[in-house]
Amino acid sequence: MASGQKVKASAGAHRIDAALRPALISWFDVHQRELPWRKTRDPYAIWVSEVMLQQTQVDRVINYWTAFLKRFPTVSSLAKARLEQVLTMWKGLGYYSRARNLHAAAQQVVAEHAGVFPQSIEALQALPGFGRYTAGAVSSIAFSLESPLVDGNVARVFSRLFEIDLPLTDKNRERLLWTYAESIVQGPRPGDLNQALMELGATVCTPQNPMCLICPVRQHCRALKSGKVDVLPPPKPSAKRKALRFAVAVCRTQGRLLMARRPETGLFSGLWEMPCVEMNADAAGIELLQTLLGRKAAPGPEFATVERTLTHRDLSFQLHEVTFPVSKLGAAPAPYLEWKWVEVRSLKTLGMSSAMQAAITAATNRVESVAIAKQPSKRRKLAGD
Ligand code: ADE
Repeated sequence: MASGQKVKASAGAHRIDAALRPALISWFDVHQRELPWRKTRDPYAIWVSEVMLQQTQVDRVINYWTAFLKRFPTVSSLAKARLEQVLTMWKGLGYYSRARNLHAAAQQVVAEHAGVFPQSIEALQALPGFGRYTAGAVSSIAFSLESPLVDGNVARVFSRLFEIDLPLTDKNRERLLWTYAESIVQGPRPGDLNQALMELGATVCTPQNPMCLICPVRQHCRALKSGKVDVLPPPKPSAKRKALRFAVAVCRTQGRLLMARRPETGLFSGLWEMPCVEMNADAAGIELLQTLLGRKAAPGPEFATVERTLTHRDLSFQLHEVTFPVSKLGAAPAPYLEWKWVEVRSLKTLGMSSAMQAAITAATNRVESVAIAKQPSKRRKLAGD
């Protein structure tokens, strides 16, 4: 569909050729990757996999999912856990609000549904963190409901298959994608059909160099016919990156580090870190740390820098050794919720960002300069979550 044909497209172009569904399902039966969460119909296990897959790529999710399910095998075990324990299992996946929602939703399933997942899209969407995508995935895969879903992979497949040539910012585009998703998911095996679409996007209809020659739905692909596979979907406008610099206080005594917990909102909400302050052009790190920690603290010069690249942010931590009186920790300074001395060997039990873990490694190794540039985690773009 060309841009000028919007009206015609939204009026009727989402009719689906009947041969499309069996072609997808037969291909999926033979070519799907063997993944542990595909061996179960347990909505809890499927839900956890879907939330993790929103964070990062399949290969990394396998280990996280296996460990998480071992630690919290049922929705009630997750509901009973302390949030801190859940965040610890999530460490390294990023976007900790997803882990918080997972915990809150488990508690809601126990409190309001006697620990049994509700089987309607509407009831699922009433749970914390359940957007349209997650509700569609869980209900189609676990309950065989004809529920549509669109994630980044499906959006790309549809863009090409149905030649959707609308800018990413166009509201009609989103609407059209969901309309196609609804139309296609009718009939037998809706969960496999949805997974086939996602799998096709992940393994064949890839962003670069799609393998059209082996595509099971190549006869149906409008972009292949019109030679537009390489230009669909249209490219994303590049996200503006924000650079954030922090002065970090490394306060230590007898094998312990001073750790503080961040407020429940904002970047790294609720996670633990060495006390730190965002730097601005006007003030030096030493002064800022002095203000944060008060008169009794004696911040030294910066001794190491740790850099970390997140999806939309470049983080830089400048580490300062700070002499700080051991006894009588009063209330944590704003904005922290609490602080405490923690044995270095127990740090792994705290919920912490991987950026802060890298800073701690640098602090405990006392290296001069560490630059750990991590690729932005490949989060999946979800439409509707
Ligand atoms: N991406 C996210 N969930 C998926 C699933 N169930 N199958 C294939 N790819 C996915």
